[in-house]
Amino acid sequence: MAADHPSAYGIETDAMTLQRYVLQQQRKHPNASGDLTNLLTSLLTAFKAISSSVRKAGLAHLYGIAGDVNVQGEEVKKLDVLSNELMINMLKSSYTVCAMVSEENEKVIEVDEGKQGKYIVTFDPLDGSSNIDCLVSIGTIFGIFRKTSDGPVKKEELLQTGRNLVAAGYCLYGSATMVVLSTGHGVNGFMLDPSLGEFILTHRHMKVPEKGKVYSINEGYAKQWSKGLTEYVRTRKFPEEGQKGMNQRYVGSMVADIHRTLLNGGIFLYPATKDAPNGKLRLLYESAPMAFIMEQAGGIAILQDGSAILDIQPTEIHQRSTVFMGSKKDVEELVQFFEKYDKSA
Ligand code: AHM
Ligand code: MG
Repeated sequence: MAADHPSAYGIETDAMTLQRYVLQQQRKHPNASGDLTNLLTSLLTAFKAISSSVRKAGLAHLYGIAGDVNVQGEEVKKLDVLSNELMINMLKSSYTVCAMVSEENEKVIEVDEGKQGKYIVTFDPLDGSSNIDCLVSIGTIFGIFRKTSDGPVKKEELLQTGRNLVAAGYCLYGSATMVVLSTGHGVNGFMLDPSLGEFILTHRHMKVPEKGKVYSINEGYAKQWSKGLTEYVRTRKFPEEGQKGMNQRYVGSMVADIHRTLLNGGIFLYPATKDAPNGKLRLLYESAPMAFIMEQAGGIAILQDGSAILDIQPTEIHQRSTVFMGSKKDVEELVQFFEKYDKSA
């Protein structure tokens, strides 16, 4: 290759950045205002800032040179609080959002009148709280809904089913930082190139394999499972003659466990337990956005009663749901166990 060829210097001169991708999508809708593009752009800024904090770039700012007081003499913010503030401030200043629902805020976050736009964003700013301090992968999950009427935001506009999602996705802070996004036309993955500070399209048209080899569940609660689930997991470990077993992997961060499931196939399960009869994960900003990604990638995402997560009508902003999602065949197999053992119970 000639030395004057751009690639000879190891630089891609025509990379598809996330922003460029979204702009390209916007061009397909001549009436689009560009608001969704602006909203996503501000989300990306928040992700980059969170990623940088998660990686402790700028330790002195995060921790203070001498202990838990930062250079301004203020007490250091915990990463989840910092991430929440970043998300709220970036979204507010995009002029595209009228209200937000965050895992960190009990009440709906309303945007000042002069700054309001037509979208409602639900998010978990830093999911995987038990993994934050031990440097295991964590992530941000988000869902974007459209406001359906003029005037102040109504309760029913905050409580829309996942079918109404305009876009959803997550940012995984793993061994690299990656955004996985769907605007309802398939799923694409964008890896952060830290040298550019840009998310580059690296995983085009992501599809979850039809069948996988891994099941992902916290087995510590096994005593509290339904009979159907207990039998399903038992047969993964002790397959019948001629059947294949499955491996078990569980990070304990939904974003990491779902990302692996999306790439390699398999099934992620967060069931009802005696202590948490509705499961643990939150419908509006954990289960529904992930179900949107999974369905867009050709997988299935259901509750323990077999109904699609995206069809669930929320009644409260912090409502919980059970979650079973992943490869089509794996989820279908699980459903047979629920039907055989739990339906008649
Ligand atoms: P969090 O919002 O408090 O971080 O909890 C959500 C996390 C998910 O990322 C993960 O799938 C799940 O909790 C793990 O829960 P458990 O420790 O009960 O297995
Ligand atoms: Mg969470």
